[in-house]
Amino acid sequence: MKPLFVANWKMHGSAAFTREWAADIAAALKDNAKSAGSAEGADSSGDVAVCPPFPLLPLLRDALPAAIQLGAQNVAAAREDGAYTGEVSARLLAEAGCTLVIIGHSERRAMQHEDDALCAAKLAAAAAAGLRPLLCVGEDAATRGNGNATAAVLAQLDAALEGAADEIWQRLIIAYEPIWAIGSGKTPSADDIAAMHTALRERLIKQNAPFGDKITLLYGGSVNAANAPGFIGIPHVNGFLVGGASLKPREFSAICHSSLASS
Ligand code: PGA
Repeated sequence: MKPLFVANWKMHGSAAFTREWAADIAAALKDNAKSAGSAEGADSSGDVAVCPPFPLLPLLRDALPAAIQLGAQNVAAAREDGAYTGEVSARLLAEAGCTLVIIGHSERRAMQHEDDALCAAKLAAAAAAGLRPLLCVGEDAATRGNGNATAAVLAQLDAALEGAADEIWQRLIIAYEPIWAIGSGKTPSADDIAAMHTALRERLIKQNAPFGDKITLLYGGSVNAANAPGFIGIPHVNGFLVGGASLKPREFSAICHSSLASS
């Protein structure tokens, strides 16, 4: 499966930062490709997408190299236009050039009280507009500590995908992001990541056999250029969702080349 590397800027950036980031990422991907000895013209070892705050989407779309996809960090659950002050529809995101959207990030689940039912509605809205929904799941430190991480993560997955239409399954991306690993510099062991990603893969196949083994499974949580080559070799790790390190184009580019570095 072709790996996918997604940058999540969260609430960072500015117009000046965006222009500079776009120029730097183009140069960095070329340099990394050259030093990794990849085929001429191949800018990275996988697909690359970047999710800036909403107002920066048009600027980034115009400044990015064509090979890099644009994504958003959130989407409205409502499918039809209407009186939803502050919301942004999947249709508008698609019109702005987005191909994917992050749904159910743990920061939104905690701070905006997004629950599994809302995530399910957002998955449906995104897929109906032709976007790829990137669903985040992950346990907190206490749940990891008491040995219930796998059960908790699979419960989140089941709840968000209950009754999901094929239009969602065809486009779905999953990111496993342990909450305690996000922005903390801590990561699970390779064995723990392997166990969780294997459990996710098995559950996806059980839920929907034709699609389950084709779904891209990302790991997220304190991914950086140093740990990415080790993580990308783990079974069922098909790429990364990167927060802090994605703000540095050189570092994010090195992460995008991690599968070349590890092979
Ligand atoms: P981090 O964030 O890479 O800064 O840990 C990942 C995420 O929250 O998506």
